[in-house]
Amino acid sequence: MIDPAILTDSVEDEVEEQLFTSLRAKAWSDFFGQEGVKESLLIAIHAAKSRNEPLDHILLYGPPGLGKTTLSHLIAQELGSNVRVTSGTALSRVGDLAAILTNLQPGDVLFIDEIHRLPKAIEETLYPAMEDYGLDIVIGKGPSARTIRLDLPKFTLVGATTRYGLLAGPFRDRFGLIHRLDYYQPQALAVIIEQAAKKLKVVISTDLAVALAQRSRGTPRVALKLLKRVRDFVQVQGRSTISSKDLEQSLAMITIDQMGLDESDRRLLEQIIKKHNGGPVGLSTIAATLSEDTLTVEEVIEPYLLQIGFLKRTNKGRVVTPIAYAHLGITYPKPT
Ligand SMILES: Nc1ncnc2c1ncn2[C@@H]1O[C@H](COP(=O)(O)OP(=O)(O)O)[C@@H](O)[C@H]1O
Ligand SMILES: [Mg+2]
Repeated sequence: MIDPAILTDSVEDEVEEQLFTSLRAKAWSDFFGQEGVKESLLIAIHAAKSRNEPLDHILLYGPPGLGKTTLSHLIAQELGSNVRVTSGTALSRVGDLAAILTNLQPGDVLFIDEIHRLPKAIEETLYPAMEDYGLDIVIGKGPSARTIRLDLPKFTLVGATTRYGLLAGPFRDRFGLIHRLDYYQPQALAVIIEQAAKKLKVVISTDLAVALAQRSRGTPRVALKLLKRVRDFVQVQGRSTISSKDLEQSLAMITIDQMGLDESDRRLLEQIIKKHNGGPVGLSTIAATLSEDTLTVEEVIEPYLLQIGFLKRTNKGRVVTPIAYAHLGITYPKPT
Protein backbone atom coordinates (compact mmCIF):
# COMPACT_ATOMS: atom_id res chain seq x y z
CA MET A 1 0.00 0.00 0.00
CA ILE A 2 1.18 3.47 -0.80
CA ASP A 3 1.91 5.74 2.12
CA PRO A 4 -0.27 8.69 1.15
CA ALA A 5 1.49 11.01 3.55
CA ILE A 6 4.65 10.77 1.48
CA LEU A 7 3.14 11.87 -1.74
CA THR A 8 -0.22 13.49 -1.52
CA ASP A 9 -1.42 16.82 -0.34
CA SER A 10 -4.08 15.30 1.84
CA VAL A 11 -1.79 14.61 4.74
CA GLU A 12 -4.02 13.24 7.46
CA ASP A 13 -1.29 12.93 10.03
CA GLU A 14 -1.33 16.12 12.03
CA VAL A 15 2.15 15.69 13.38
CA GLU A 16 3.46 15.40 9.86
CA GLU A 17 1.52 18.45 8.75
CA GLN A 18 2.97 20.39 11.68
CA LEU A 19 6.42 19.35 10.53
CA PHE A 20 5.81 20.75 7.04
CA THR A 21 4.34 23.91 8.48
CA SER A 22 7.31 24.38 10.79
CA LEU A 23 9.71 23.81 7.91
CA ARG A 24 7.79 26.04 5.53
CA ALA A 25 9.92 28.72 3.93
CA LYS A 26 9.21 31.97 5.75
CA ALA A 27 11.10 34.12 3.26
CA TRP A 28 11.83 34.05 -0.46
CA SER A 29 15.48 33.44 0.32
CA ASP A 30 14.48 30.15 1.99
CA PHE A 31 12.54 29.06 -1.07
CA PHE A 32 15.06 27.34 -3.33
CA GLY A 33 14.80 26.58 -7.03
CA GLN A 34 11.88 27.45 -9.34
CA GLU A 35 13.81 30.60 -10.22
CA GLY A 36 11.67 31.49 -13.22
CA VAL A 37 8.44 31.28 -11.24
CA LYS A 38 9.86 33.26 -8.34
CA GLU A 39 11.17 36.02 -10.55
CA SER A 40 7.95 36.38 -12.48
CA LEU A 41 5.87 36.46 -9.30
CA LEU A 42 8.09 39.07 -7.66
CA ILE A 43 7.97 41.31 -10.72
CA ALA A 44 4.18 41.08 -10.83
CA ILE A 45 3.88 41.77 -7.10
CA HIS A 46 6.16 44.81 -7.17
CA ALA A 47 4.49 46.19 -10.28
CA ALA A 48 1.05 45.84 -8.71
CA LYS A 49 2.26 47.46 -5.49
CA SER A 50 3.84 50.41 -7.29
CA ARG A 51 0.66 50.98 -9.30
CA ASN A 52 -1.35 50.56 -6.14
CA GLU A 53 -3.49 47.99 -7.87
CA PRO A 54 -4.56 44.54 -6.77
CA LEU A 55 -2.26 41.75 -7.93
CA ASP A 56 -3.60 39.61 -10.80
CA HIS A 57 -5.09 36.27 -9.89
CA ILE A 58 -2.51 33.51 -9.92
CA LEU A 59 -2.80 29.85 -10.78
CA LEU A 60 -0.05 27.48 -9.63
CA TYR A 61 -0.08 23.94 -10.90
CA GLY A 62 2.09 20.87 -10.70
CA PRO A 63 2.51 17.65 -8.75
CA PRO A 64 1.96 17.62 -4.97
CA GLY A 65 4.71 18.74 -2.62
CA LEU A 66 6.53 21.17 -4.93
CA GLY A 67 5.75 24.34 -2.99
CA LYS A 68 2.39 25.69 -4.13
CA THR A 69 1.03 26.32 -0.65
CA THR A 70 4.33 27.79 0.47
CA LEU A 71 4.37 30.18 -2.48
CA SER A 72 0.86 31.39 -1.73
CA HIS A 73 1.99 32.41 1.76
CA LEU A 74 5.11 34.11 0.41
CA ILE A 75 3.00 36.05 -2.11
CA ALA A 76 0.72 37.37 0.63
CA GLN A 77 3.71 38.25 2.78
CA GLU A 78 5.34 40.16 -0.06
CA LEU A 79 2.11 42.05 -0.63
CA GLY A 80 2.00 42.86 3.05
CA SER A 81 -1.44 41.33 3.34
CA ASN A 82 -3.21 38.41 4.91
CA VAL A 83 -3.87 35.05 3.36
CA ARG A 84 -7.12 33.18 3.79
CA VAL A 85 -6.71 29.48 3.08
CA THR A 86 -9.40 27.13 1.85
CA SER A 87 -9.73 24.30 -0.64
CA GLY A 88 -11.88 23.01 -3.45
CA THR A 89 -13.19 20.23 -1.27
CA ALA A 90 -13.92 22.43 1.75
CA LEU A 91 -16.07 24.88 -0.17
CA SER A 92 -19.33 23.11 -0.83
CA ARG A 93 -21.91 25.89 -0.57
CA VAL A 94 -22.04 29.23 -2.34
CA GLY A 95 -22.87 30.80 1.01
CA ASP A 96 -19.54 29.66 2.45
CA LEU A 97 -17.66 31.31 -0.39
CA ALA A 98 -19.74 34.48 -0.04
CA ALA A 99 -18.90 34.64 3.67
CA ILE A 100 -15.20 34.30 2.95
CA LEU A 101 -15.16 36.84 0.13
CA THR A 102 -17.11 39.50 2.00
CA ASN A 103 -14.80 39.17 4.98
CA LEU A 104 -11.60 39.81 3.03
CA GLN A 105 -9.66 43.03 3.47
CA PRO A 106 -8.57 44.95 0.38
CA GLY A 107 -5.37 43.40 -0.99
CA ASP A 108 -5.86 40.08 0.79
CA VAL A 109 -4.93 36.78 -0.80
CA LEU A 110 -7.50 34.03 -1.00
CA PHE A 111 -5.73 30.71 -1.45
CA ILE A 112 -7.85 27.88 -2.84
CA ASP A 113 -6.00 24.58 -2.82
CA GLU A 114 -7.14 21.74 -5.11
CA ILE A 115 -9.09 24.32 -7.04
CA HIS A 116 -10.07 21.76 -9.68
CA ARG A 117 -12.35 20.16 -7.11
CA LEU A 118 -14.56 23.23 -6.67
CA PRO A 119 -18.23 22.56 -7.32
CA LYS A 120 -19.41 24.16 -10.56
CA ALA A 121 -21.79 26.58 -8.81
CA ILE A 122 -18.95 27.95 -6.69
CA GLU A 123 -16.66 28.23 -9.67
CA GLU A 124 -19.27 30.31 -11.46
CA THR A 125 -19.78 32.53 -8.43
CA LEU A 126 -16.06 33.19 -8.58
CA TYR A 127 -16.13 34.43 -12.17
CA PRO A 128 -17.59 37.90 -11.46
CA ALA A 129 -15.70 38.02 -8.17
CA MET A 130 -12.42 37.55 -10.02
CA GLU A 131 -13.28 39.81 -12.90
CA ASP A 132 -15.15 42.73 -11.35
CA TYR A 133 -14.82 42.10 -7.61
CA GLY A 134 -18.57 41.59 -7.52
CA LEU A 135 -20.74 38.96 -5.93
CA ASP A 136 -24.16 38.24 -7.42
CA ILE A 137 -26.64 37.12 -4.83
CA VAL A 138 -30.13 35.89 -5.56
CA ILE A 139 -32.72 37.14 -3.11
CA GLY A 140 -36.14 35.55 -2.82
CA LYS A 141 -37.63 32.69 -4.77
CA GLY A 142 -39.76 32.20 -7.86
CA PRO A 143 -41.06 35.14 -9.92
CA SER A 144 -40.16 37.70 -7.29
CA ALA A 145 -36.54 36.54 -7.09
CA ARG A 146 -33.98 39.16 -8.01
CA THR A 147 -30.25 39.38 -8.13
CA ILE A 148 -28.31 42.01 -6.29
CA ARG A 149 -24.64 42.67 -6.69
CA LEU A 150 -22.37 43.15 -3.70
CA ASP A 151 -19.06 44.92 -4.11
CA LEU A 152 -16.12 42.96 -2.81
CA PRO A 153 -12.77 44.20 -1.60
CA LYS A 154 -10.12 43.96 -4.30
CA PHE A 155 -8.47 40.65 -3.51
CA THR A 156 -6.09 38.26 -5.24
CA LEU A 157 -7.09 34.68 -5.81
CA VAL A 158 -4.24 32.20 -5.73
CA GLY A 159 -5.39 28.81 -6.95
CA ALA A 160 -3.35 25.61 -6.72
CA THR A 161 -4.01 22.43 -8.60
CA THR A 162 -2.37 19.15 -9.46
CA ARG A 163 -4.70 18.84 -12.45
CA TYR A 164 -4.50 21.82 -14.74
CA GLY A 165 -6.33 19.92 -17.47
CA LEU A 166 -9.45 19.63 -15.35
CA LEU A 167 -9.99 23.39 -15.09
CA ALA A 168 -12.55 24.85 -17.47
CA GLY A 169 -11.19 27.21 -20.12
CA PRO A 170 -13.19 30.25 -18.90
CA PHE A 171 -11.84 29.65 -15.39
CA ARG A 172 -8.21 29.47 -16.54
CA ASP A 173 -8.71 32.62 -18.61
CA ARG A 174 -9.50 34.58 -15.48
CA PHE A 175 -6.04 34.03 -14.03
CA GLY A 176 -3.58 36.69 -15.14
CA LEU A 177 -0.56 34.61 -14.13
CA ILE A 178 -0.34 30.89 -14.64
CA HIS A 179 2.74 29.02 -13.47
CA ARG A 180 3.72 25.41 -13.65
CA LEU A 181 5.99 24.11 -10.92
CA ASP A 182 8.48 21.49 -12.06
CA TYR A 183 10.22 18.69 -10.25
CA TYR A 184 13.42 19.92 -8.57
CA GLN A 185 16.95 19.01 -9.53
CA PRO A 186 18.81 16.99 -6.87
CA GLN A 187 21.16 19.96 -6.23
CA ALA A 188 18.26 22.24 -5.30
CA LEU A 189 16.69 19.52 -3.16
CA ALA A 190 20.01 18.97 -1.41
CA VAL A 191 20.05 22.63 -0.37
CA ILE A 192 16.48 22.31 0.93
CA ILE A 193 17.53 19.21 2.89
CA GLU A 194 20.57 20.92 4.42
CA GLN A 195 18.47 23.89 5.42
CA ALA A 196 15.83 21.69 7.02
CA ALA A 197 18.47 19.61 8.80
CA LYS A 198 19.62 22.74 10.62
CA LYS A 199 16.07 23.41 11.77
CA LEU A 200 15.66 19.77 12.82
CA LYS A 201 18.97 19.92 14.67
CA VAL A 202 20.72 17.10 12.84
CA VAL A 203 23.98 17.21 10.95
CA ILE A 204 24.06 15.93 7.38
CA SER A 205 27.00 16.26 5.00
CA THR A 206 26.48 17.75 1.55
CA ASP A 207 27.22 14.38 -0.07
CA LEU A 208 24.55 12.66 1.98
CA ALA A 209 22.12 15.49 1.37
CA VAL A 210 22.62 14.91 -2.37
CA ALA A 211 22.19 11.16 -1.91
CA LEU A 212 18.94 11.75 -0.06
CA ALA A 213 17.86 14.28 -2.68
CA GLN A 214 18.33 11.69 -5.41
CA ARG A 215 15.77 9.50 -3.74
CA SER A 216 13.23 12.25 -3.21
CA ARG A 217 11.40 12.15 -6.56
CA GLY A 218 12.32 15.74 -7.29
CA THR A 219 9.89 16.74 -4.54
CA PRO A 220 10.69 18.88 -1.48
CA ARG A 221 7.85 17.35 0.50
CA VAL A 222 9.29 13.87 -0.05
CA ALA A 223 12.81 15.08 0.74
CA LEU A 224 11.69 16.54 4.07
CA LYS A 225 9.71 13.46 4.90
CA LEU A 226 12.69 11.19 4.23
CA LEU A 227 14.98 13.50 6.19
CA LYS A 228 12.65 13.25 9.13
CA ARG A 229 12.74 9.44 8.98
CA VAL A 230 16.52 9.45 8.97
CA ARG A 231 16.59 12.03 11.77
CA ASP A 232 14.30 9.85 13.91
CA PHE A 233 16.47 6.83 13.17
CA VAL A 234 19.59 8.66 14.33
CA GLN A 235 17.95 10.33 17.29
CA VAL A 236 16.64 7.16 18.93
CA GLN A 237 20.27 6.08 19.06
CA GLY A 238 21.18 9.26 20.87
CA ARG A 239 23.18 10.72 18.00
CA SER A 240 22.80 13.85 15.93
CA THR A 241 25.07 13.27 12.94
CA ILE A 242 23.76 11.28 9.98
CA SER A 243 26.11 8.68 8.52
CA SER A 244 25.75 7.00 5.14
CA LYS A 245 24.90 3.79 6.95
CA ASP A 246 22.06 5.55 8.78
CA LEU A 247 20.74 6.72 5.46
CA GLU A 248 20.87 3.27 3.86
CA GLN A 249 19.37 1.51 6.84
CA SER A 250 16.55 3.93 7.51
CA LEU A 251 15.55 4.15 3.86
CA ALA A 252 15.73 0.38 3.47
CA MET A 253 13.22 0.14 6.32
CA ILE A 254 10.70 2.08 4.28
CA THR A 255 11.84 0.37 1.05
CA ILE A 256 12.83 3.46 -0.87
CA ASP A 257 15.26 2.39 -3.57
CA GLN A 258 18.13 4.16 -5.35
CA MET A 259 15.76 5.92 -7.73
CA GLY A 260 13.46 7.01 -4.94
CA LEU A 261 10.83 4.48 -5.95
CA ASP A 262 8.73 3.00 -3.20
CA GLU A 263 6.73 -0.19 -2.94
CA SER A 264 3.75 1.08 -4.90
CA ASP A 265 5.86 2.43 -7.77
CA ARG A 266 7.59 -0.90 -8.17
CA ARG A 267 4.32 -2.78 -7.80
CA LEU A 268 2.77 -0.73 -10.57
CA LEU A 269 5.63 -1.42 -12.94
CA GLU A 270 5.86 -5.11 -11.99
CA GLN A 271 2.14 -5.66 -12.40
CA ILE A 272 2.14 -4.13 -15.88
CA ILE A 273 5.12 -6.30 -16.79
CA LYS A 274 3.77 -9.52 -15.30
CA LYS A 275 0.09 -9.25 -16.06
CA HIS A 276 0.15 -7.22 -19.26
CA ASN A 277 3.52 -8.00 -20.84
CA GLY A 278 4.71 -4.48 -20.16
CA GLY A 279 1.70 -2.83 -21.77
CA PRO A 280 0.12 -0.99 -23.39
CA VAL A 281 -2.56 -1.12 -20.73
CA GLY A 282 -5.29 1.35 -19.78
CA LEU A 283 -5.38 3.43 -16.61
CA SER A 284 -8.51 1.79 -15.20
CA THR A 285 -7.05 -1.67 -15.69
CA ILE A 286 -3.87 -0.65 -13.88
CA ALA A 287 -5.87 0.85 -11.03
CA ALA A 288 -7.98 -2.30 -10.73
CA THR A 289 -4.89 -4.52 -10.75
CA LEU A 290 -3.36 -2.46 -7.93
CA SER A 291 -6.65 -1.99 -6.03
CA GLU A 292 -6.04 1.76 -6.12
CA ASP A 293 -8.41 4.38 -7.45
CA THR A 294 -7.58 5.87 -10.83
CA LEU A 295 -6.99 9.33 -9.33
CA THR A 296 -4.27 8.05 -7.01
CA VAL A 297 -2.59 6.24 -9.87
CA GLU A 298 -2.81 9.22 -12.19
CA GLU A 299 -2.01 12.04 -9.77
CA VAL A 300 0.29 10.40 -7.27
CA ILE A 301 2.07 7.34 -8.62
CA GLU A 302 2.38 7.94 -12.35
CA PRO A 303 3.73 11.50 -12.74
CA TYR A 304 7.16 10.70 -11.39
CA LEU A 305 7.45 7.43 -13.31
CA LEU A 306 6.57 9.32 -16.48
CA GLN A 307 9.03 12.07 -15.60
CA ILE A 308 11.98 9.70 -15.18
CA GLY A 309 11.00 7.80 -18.32
CA PHE A 310 10.10 4.51 -16.61
CA LEU A 311 6.60 4.70 -17.99
CA LYS A 312 5.34 6.01 -21.30
CA ARG A 313 1.87 7.13 -22.23
CA THR A 314 0.72 6.03 -25.66
CA ASN A 315 -2.73 6.33 -27.14
CA LYS A 316 -3.22 2.61 -26.50
CA GLY A 317 -2.28 2.92 -22.83
CA ARG A 318 0.71 2.88 -20.51
CA VAL A 319 3.91 1.10 -21.48
CA VAL A 320 6.84 0.15 -19.24
CA THR A 321 10.14 1.22 -20.82
CA PRO A 322 13.40 -0.78 -21.13
CA ILE A 323 15.15 1.35 -18.47
CA ALA A 324 12.45 0.41 -15.97
CA TYR A 325 13.01 -3.28 -16.75
CA ALA A 326 16.71 -2.76 -16.17
CA HIS A 327 16.08 -0.97 -12.87
CA LEU A 328 13.87 -3.81 -11.66
CA GLY A 329 16.36 -6.42 -12.84
CA ILE A 330 13.87 -7.97 -15.26
CA THR A 331 15.01 -8.97 -18.76
CA TYR A 332 13.41 -6.85 -21.44
CA PRO A 333 11.60 -9.10 -23.90
CA LYS A 334 13.10 -8.78 -27.38
CA PRO A 335 10.63 -7.25 -29.80
CA THR A 336 9.31 -10.01 -32.06
N1 LIG B 1 11.38 25.57 -3.10
C1 LIG B 1 11.33 25.17 -1.82
N2 LIG B 1 12.29 25.51 -0.95
C2 LIG B 1 12.23 25.09 0.34
N3 LIG B 1 11.24 24.35 0.84
C3 LIG B 1 10.23 23.98 0.03
C4 LIG B 1 10.23 24.39 -1.34
N4 LIG B 1 9.11 23.89 -1.92
C5 LIG B 1 8.45 23.22 -0.96
N5 LIG B 1 9.12 23.25 0.21
C6 LIG B 1 8.72 22.61 1.46
O1 LIG B 1 8.10 21.37 1.15
C7 LIG B 1 6.92 21.19 1.92
C8 LIG B 1 5.73 20.99 1.01
O2 LIG B 1 5.50 22.19 0.27
P1 LIG B 1 4.03 22.71 -0.06
O3 LIG B 1 4.10 24.18 -0.28
O4 LIG B 1 3.09 22.23 0.98
O5 LIG B 1 3.76 21.97 -1.45
P2 LIG B 1 2.40 21.87 -2.29
O6 LIG B 1 1.43 22.86 -1.75
O7 LIG B 1 2.78 22.11 -3.70
O8 LIG B 1 1.91 20.44 -2.10
C9 LIG B 1 6.80 22.42 2.82
O9 LIG B 1 7.30 22.10 4.09
C10 LIG B 1 7.67 23.44 2.14
O10 LIG B 1 8.23 24.35 3.02
MG1 LIG C 1 -0.32 22.38 -0.79
